[in-house]
Amino acid sequence: MKDISLRKRYVPFPNNGKLIPKLRTIFIVKSFLIIICLVASVSLISYAYNAVVVTNKLVVENISKEEAEETNISHILFGIGGSAKTWNNRSRYSELWWRPKVTRGFVWLDENPQVNEPWPDTFPSYRISQDTSTFKYTCWFGDRSAVRIARIVKESFELGLNNVRWFVMGDDDTVFFPENLVTVLAKYDHNQMYYIGGNSESVEINVFGSYSMAFGGGGIAISYPLAAELAKILDGCINRYHYLFASDQKIGSCVAEIGVSLTKELGFHQMDIQGSPRGLLAAHPVAPLVSMHHLDVYMLNSLIPSLSRFESVKKVIKAYNKDPSRTLQHSLCYDLKRNWSLSVSWGFSIQLYPWLMNARELEMPMQTFKTWKGSEEPFTFNTRPNNVEPCKSPIEYYLDQVVDLPNGETLTSYSIIADSNKQCENQNYRPALAVRMVNVTATILRPQVWRQAPRRQCCEVINEEDSIESNLHIRIRGCNKWESVTPPFYDKYGDFAYFQRMVR
Ligand SMILES: *[C@@H]1O[C@H](CO)[C@@H](O)[C@H](O)[C@H]1NC(C)=O
Ligand SMILES: *[C@@H]1O[C@H](CO)[C@@H](O)[C@H](O)[C@H]1NC(C)=O
Ligand SMILES: *[C@@H]1O[C@H](CO)[C@@H](O)[C@H](O)[C@H]1NC(C)=O
Ligand SMILES: *[C@@H]1O[C@H](CO)[C@@H](O)[C@H](O)[C@H]1NC(C)=O
Ligand SMILES: *[C@@H]1O[C@H](CO)[C@@H](O)[C@H](O)[C@H]1NC(C)=O
Repeated sequence: MKDISLRKRYVPFPNNGKLIPKLRTIFIVKSFLIIICLVASVSLISYAYNAVVVTNKLVVENISKEEAEETNISHILFGIGGSAKTWNNRSRYSELWWRPKVTRGFVWLDENPQVNEPWPDTFPSYRISQDTSTFKYTCWFGDRSAVRIARIVKESFELGLNNVRWFVMGDDDTVFFPENLVTVLAKYDHNQMYYIGGNSESVEINVFGSYSMAFGGGGIAISYPLAAELAKILDGCINRYHYLFASDQKIGSCVAEIGVSLTKELGFHQMDIQGSPRGLLAAHPVAPLVSMHHLDVYMLNSLIPSLSRFESVKKVIKAYNKDPSRTLQHSLCYDLKRNWSLSVSWGFSIQLYPWLMNARELEMPMQTFKTWKGSEEPFTFNTRPNNVEPCKSPIEYYLDQVVDLPNGETLTSYSIIADSNKQCENQNYRPALAVRMVNVTATILRPQVWRQAPRRQCCEVINEEDSIESNLHIRIRGCNKWESVTPPFYDKYGDFAYFQRMVR
């Protein structure tokens, strides 16, 4: 609201002819002085500002070059929880990812390996854990080796090795993907206290363990300053939480006392599931693949149905070595000439659905597995049913060859699995079944994409004129502007929705 009376009272210059020239002079002199003052203060401020900037620059330059360097593999100290008895059999999994003279760290054993047991250079060196017999452990269904394993982070810290930014703990049956682990850790400031990892897939295990803890088999990453605080109080925690079953629960409880919360990263895989992991890994979230656990337990089938457990991990690692960032990354596309939907999990598998299906369903893991205790559900993510009816299940292809192309791209080929169920007589299904192999070309995915907002890459089916019916060629690429995985037709009957299809 305007106040009119105030305006009326305000008279800048009295209405007096003689006074005006005098006032004008005063005004000009005054303005001049004010301007001088202003100029002076502005230059003073800018001088002070420059001085601050210059000192800051010096300080920054003085921070040792090593500090300023991006986090790389040499900054990680691995602590693998092993035992003399199991190492013999598990070491081949560690050998798959361990890089002699590149990765740093130790496998921690309970006792010396047998005298004549070979210890090749392809193994991480071992350390013998300190004696933990005086610690309290009262979980009646557990094993007190949990105490020893929990202390690996402390014993690793106390080695006092140079230039360690992160302590990463895993089990002897954890397979790490080191480049991707570096990509993930490099996003965080190692000078702050970070506790990074993932939960279990099975709700029952998180309820038993905790949603606030990093599960040890999937891997636990602890920044240097947090490791320092942890090392100080860990032994006390171990005794205080004597009733807890597992080593990772004890670490989680101790981190809770420090007050640091878990930073969840979607690429850590505890793999607390039974059955076939193929549905889970065919629908990986948009995040770098950091770890996989339990690949050697009898409850978990091999990753690739036609290969042994060990051979199928080796196969995926073969693709991983060509393009770490892209491994297991999901791309969805349609072949609109044939009304097919395709789901690619790069370096692992492809599903061909001889009908159109919504992205929402394609993105969801097909439940080829049960919870760790063997129930149908629940999981910490949505799943869709694994249909046993031949006409309702996709045709699956698994990684066969990985080839470098002359243009710097990769060609991965995926073959249909032999037993291919599919005795489906449906007309739509037959031409799809004729496809025996799918070839995928893709550029190398730069790790820098993981600094950006996560988005699935797009793909397209390349139907060359002379292409053979039995061979499908898919190209993966970044999405174009306005591009989305959207079926072109109005879905009158809800046929594109997988669940709807189930109901009808
Ligand atoms: C930077 O380091 C040099 C030599 O170590 C030292 O003389 C100088 O005072 C330092 N400057 C700052 C701003 O810390
Ligand atoms: C990692 O960074 C350090 C600096 O902290 C540097 O000296 C070293 O050469 C780097 N190593 C690799 C493998 O890039
Ligand atoms: C290693 O594991 C395999 C499969 O679980 C088993 O058959 C074999 O006996 C084990 N070998 C040793 C030395 O423990
Ligand atoms: C694909 O589906 C649409 C909508 O149902 C249909 O009109 C079209 O004929 C189909 N094309 C082929 C090649 O089956
Ligand atoms: C698909 O890839 C394989 C190599 O893995 C190659 O032998 C075959 O010729 C390729 N097919 C096509 C149509 O490019």
